Amino acid sequence: MRAGLKQKETDQSSYEFDPKTNLKLRNWFLKEKRDLAFRKNRTPYSTWVSEIMLQQTRVAAMLPLYEKFMDRFPKPEDLADAEEEEVFRYWQGLGYYSRAKNLLAGVRILVNEFGGKFPRTLDEALSLPGIGPYTARAILSISYNLSFAVLDGNAKRVLSRLVLFKESGPKADPALQRIADLFLNLEFPGDHNEAVMELGARICIPKPLCTECPLQNDCLAYRNGLQESIPEMEKKKKEIPLNIRFYILKTKQGILLVRYPERRFFKTIYSLPFSFEGKHPYDADPVLDWNLKPSDLGIKFKHTITHHKIQGFVSETELDQKSEKNILNHFRKIRPSIEIKYCNWKNLETEFPSSIAKKIKQTFVKDGTVLPGLEN
Ligand code: ADE
Repeated sequence: MRAGLKQKETDQSSYEFDPKTNLKLRNWFLKEKRDLAFRKNRTPYSTWVSEIMLQQTRVAAMLPLYEKFMDRFPKPEDLADAEEEEVFRYWQGLGYYSRAKNLLAGVRILVNEFGGKFPRTLDEALSLPGIGPYTARAILSISYNLSFAVLDGNAKRVLSRLVLFKESGPKADPALQRIADLFLNLEFPGDHNEAVMELGARICIPKPLCTECPLQNDCLAYRNGLQESIPEMEKKKKEIPLNIRFYILKTKQGILLVRYPERRFFKTIYSLPFSFEGKHPYDADPVLDWNLKPSDLGIKFKHTITHHKIQGFVSETELDQKSEKNILNHFRKIRPSIEIKYCNWKNLETEFPSSIAKKIKQTFVKDGTVLPGLEN
């Protein structure tokens, strides 16, 4: 009756898959898989880099940055030796800089404590910073062909539909991991994992293309006409509108940039100092409670960070040595962890590696505004 699997009616967590389902999936993958740069050379290190980049970033956006990154840091030793600032520059366009920070910390441990050789056990892999269950399983299966099944968002959708598993959200993860483990092709675990994710990325999408699916006949959701309602859509986080003002504080040494982990955004990178304006749900940042009155430059831009819809504004002021000293003392007193550096107008977007820096500069260029002290 069920081509894809036999499910013991009494035990929801016990599924038995037909090996033919796996075979169909594998054949589809070998024929249809995209020829992607990160699929060429699958060392644990290159898989690590690509899988971290693919978290929260689409393949098309990630590919050119992946290639540039691997040209500059082809081996774990090259990355381990690099300065964080340079690694961030190569991460520009991917966002979520804590991923780059953790990757760098993890690769340094790999080089210094594991002799550069990626471990082969799940526990050891999980001990590295930035490597969670998904990444550990992806690296071990794809690069070492070890029998670990991965569970990312795409895999969850594919598996839920395949076995008509109706629960969703974090509580459903342990059961879905069991289903993933049972479905794993033990002969080709790496290909299998990529095939499941690839199917989820291209065919078994939220509005699924079932007529193109190699597993159409095996899929219990399809056979019950429930493919579009499984998995249940997770409620989207409510959008938060935010007004943020960025400050261009010009000093003798250049434009002031700050970094401190206690703030809401840009915890890991340097940025122009900023403050929230108007109504917002977050605590005010006492760092920005100073007595200067920077002038508004009339610049407005839009930006999105996760579910925050941001309207950006820009102010600037010139700081003489005395007021700079006062401000820095104030910053350090309130946030002893604060780090300070300076940039010039030209390298603003490499030193503050966010598209916000680009947006601020583009607005200047569009307006034809040349600000005194910002030409260089
Ligand atoms: N999504 C994340 N990693 C992937 C991979 N290796 N193949 C296909 N889709 C993916």
